[in-house]
Amino acid sequence: MRLEGKVAAITGAGRGIGFAAARLFAAEGAKVYLLDIDEKIGAEAEASIINDGGKVKFIQLDISDREAVKNAFSVIGEYDGKLEVLYNNASVFLGKQDNIISELSPEIWDRILGINLNGLFYCCKYALPLMLANSNGSIINTASSAGVIGIPKCDAYTATKGATVSLTRSMAVEYGPMGIRVNCIAPAAIKTPMVKESNLDDPDFDEKVFLQKGTPLRRWGYPDEIARIALFLASEESSYLNGAIIVADGGITIT
Ligand SMILES: NC(=O)c1ccc[n+]([C@@H]2O[C@H](COP(=O)([O-])OP(=O)(O)OC[C@H]3O[C@@H](n4cnc5c(N)ncnc54)[C@H](O)[C@@H]3O)[C@@H](O)[C@H]2O)c1
Repeated sequence: MRLEGKVAAITGAGRGIGFAAARLFAAEGAKVYLLDIDEKIGAEAEASIINDGGKVKFIQLDISDREAVKNAFSVIGEYDGKLEVLYNNASVFLGKQDNIISELSPEIWDRILGINLNGLFYCCKYALPLMLANSNGSIINTASSAGVIGIPKCDAYTATKGATVSLTRSMAVEYGPMGIRVNCIAPAAIKTPMVKESNLDDPDFDEKVFLQKGTPLRRWGYPDEIARIALFLASEESSYLNGAIIVADGGITIT
């Protein structure tokens, strides 16, 4: 029970990495708020974790909607009066709509930045008072290989993930003295619905070639493998880790 008595909020908790983390955090004793834009998968995730004996509550929201985010954290404040863990996991990738800058529509740029970057800002902004009240908290941000190396044809996504890395570092310096650690996980090639939609469903994507030539471990990563890193960052086991960017990609970005 590594998160016994803690209150956690996870964005994008309805599926993929966020759902795996929500299930794991609940199994480790946390009360977990599942924040997701999708009413259906959010409610299903909530029911499934409750069925396993976990304490969770689903709040439907779009993280790019500032008022909705503000309301969600005020609900958490009313119910629990505190928050120890914020896992900023929700993002969109928008595969073929994102592009190289000269071919990228301003509307798609705005949409991706609105969710991946403004959403991150709003969640941190409205969660922080609940953490600062007890001088205790762990914020886990989510970058990507796209925040560490150049990935072509997804410039809006890449811009948000690079910004997430930079913001993690500055927040770690700013909030460390106030008892709040801020770290970041940069995953790649984790088999989730996002990867199915952006790669596996693409007729031009050759899975066999990708796994053999692009991945040193010769396989996909799995949501539970990222969730376990998030659990480490959420728990006291990582008590001296602050401002770290944990690249969790089986070695893809070092090849
Ligand atoms: N899967 C990978 O290989 C990979 C690689 C690099 C980075 N990441 C990052 O990991 C995180 C999780 O990725 P995933 O693969 O599990 O994604 P996913 O698309 O499978 O799940 C994302 C979840 O976020 C929710 N969401 C989307 N927009 C939202 C919004 N505006 N407000 C609230 N919720 C919203 C979705 O409903 C969904 O439940 C993302 O930040 C992603 O960029 C994933």
